[in-house]
Amino acid sequence: MLDNKIRVGGVMLTPLEAAFVSHAIDRGMIGPGGLTKSFERELAAVHGYKHCLCLNSGQSALMIALQALRLQNGRSLNVAVPAITYISSLAAVVQSQNTPVLVDVHREVHAEMDYDQMPEDVDIVMPVHLFGAAVKRNYPFKNISVEDACEACYAPGVGFGPILCTSFYSSHTITTGMGGAIMCNDDDLYFKCWQLVNHGRIKHDDYTDAANLKDRFTFDEIGYSLKYADINAALGLAQHYNRDNIIEARQYIGLLLTQKLQELGFEQDKHVMPIEDNTYMMFPILLDQGMDRDRIVDVLNQNNIETRMLMPITTQPVVKRLFGPDVEDRYPNAKFLNKHGFYIGCHPMMSDESVDHIAAVIKEAIQ
Ligand SMILES: Cc1ncc(COP(=O)(O)O)c(C=O)c1O
Repeated sequence: MLDNKIRVGGVMLTPLEAAFVSHAIDRGMIGPGGLTKSFERELAAVHGYKHCLCLNSGQSALMIALQALRLQNGRSLNVAVPAITYISSLAAVVQSQNTPVLVDVHREVHAEMDYDQMPEDVDIVMPVHLFGAAVKRNYPFKNISVEDACEACYAPGVGFGPILCTSFYSSHTITTGMGGAIMCNDDDLYFKCWQLVNHGRIKHDDYTDAANLKDRFTFDEIGYSLKYADINAALGLAQHYNRDNIIEARQYIGLLLTQKLQELGFEQDKHVMPIEDNTYMMFPILLDQGMDRDRIVDVLNQNNIETRMLMPITTQPVVKRLFGPDVEDRYPNAKFLNKHGFYIGCHPMMSDESVDHIAAVIKEAIQ
C-alpha cells in the first residue's frame, strides 16, 4: 500500500501474473492473439456459455451486446435499467442507440431492480449484479435479458440468461488493468459482437491466420476498434487461475466486516449484504433513516477509510438532462438509497486490523 488509507479497491498480484506477462513479452505477442483466445475459453467454460468475446471494457461489452441486438432486431429497443447502478449500464444503452427506461429498485442494500415496476413496452431487461453478488429474485419475464455482471464476475447465480457482460477494470473481482467480456450462446450474436469490436470486419478471424488477410481488411459494418490484447489476457489468465484465492480473501474480509457490524446492530439483507454466494467486490452499507450518512462518511474519510456513494443514477446531471429535473422523485426507493447508502472496500489487501479500525470508527460515528 502507498499509504495507510483503507482504499475501496485493492488488487492481489502474485508471481503467477508476473510469469504470464513475461511469457507474453518473451513470445513477442502482446496484441490480440492466442492468450486472448485462451482467456475467453476459460471464462466461457466457468460461466457456462459457448462463446466469450473479450474487449476493452465492461461498458463497451454492454454497449456492443445491446448494439448487436438492435441490429438483429432492425430497430431501437427499450432497455430497462435499474435506478441504482454504475453510469455505464445506462450509458451503454444510449450509446448503442437504444432507449433507456429506468426502473426503481427494492429498498434494500443490494438494490435489486423491482420487477413489479417494469413498464409494459420494455424489450430488454438489464439485471445488474451489484457489489459482487448475483441478484436473487427469479427473472419473471419472457423478454431477453442482458446481465451486467461487471461487479460480479464468477459470482454464483450470474449468467442465468442468454447474454452476460463483465468487467476486468482495476479493483474488480479479477482485473487485467482494464477490459471486459461478453458471453453468449448464439452464434450470430457472437459474430455480430465480434464484428462490431473489430472494425466491422466481414469474416471472423482469430488473429493468428495469415491466410485470411484479405477478409481482415474487408468491412461490411461500421464497427469500432475495441479489441483486447494478449498482454492483458496474460494478466487475466493468471488472475483467473488465482480466482479462488482472490475470492476467498475477499470473502474473509467480508465475513469479518459483517460480524463486526452485526455486533453494532446492522442486519444482513437490510443494512449489509448477505454472506452467501457473495464474492465481495466491495462492502455496501445502507443506514437507517435516522442516521446521518454524510456525517458518518466524513468521519470514515477523516479516519483514512475511503468511501463511495451507493451507485446513484438519478442525481447525476446527465441523467437529469435525459429524464427531467424531477427524475430522483420518480424513483423513491433509489432516492432513499442515494441518501442513506455508501460503500467501503472489501479486498485482498485489507487486514484484520483494517476491519477492526473500520468497526471502531463506525461505532464511534453512529453514536
Ligand atoms: C455495474 C457496472 N457496470 C458497468 C461497469 C463498466 O465497467 P468498465 O469500467 O470496465 O467499463 C462498471 C464499472 O465499474 C460497473 O460497476
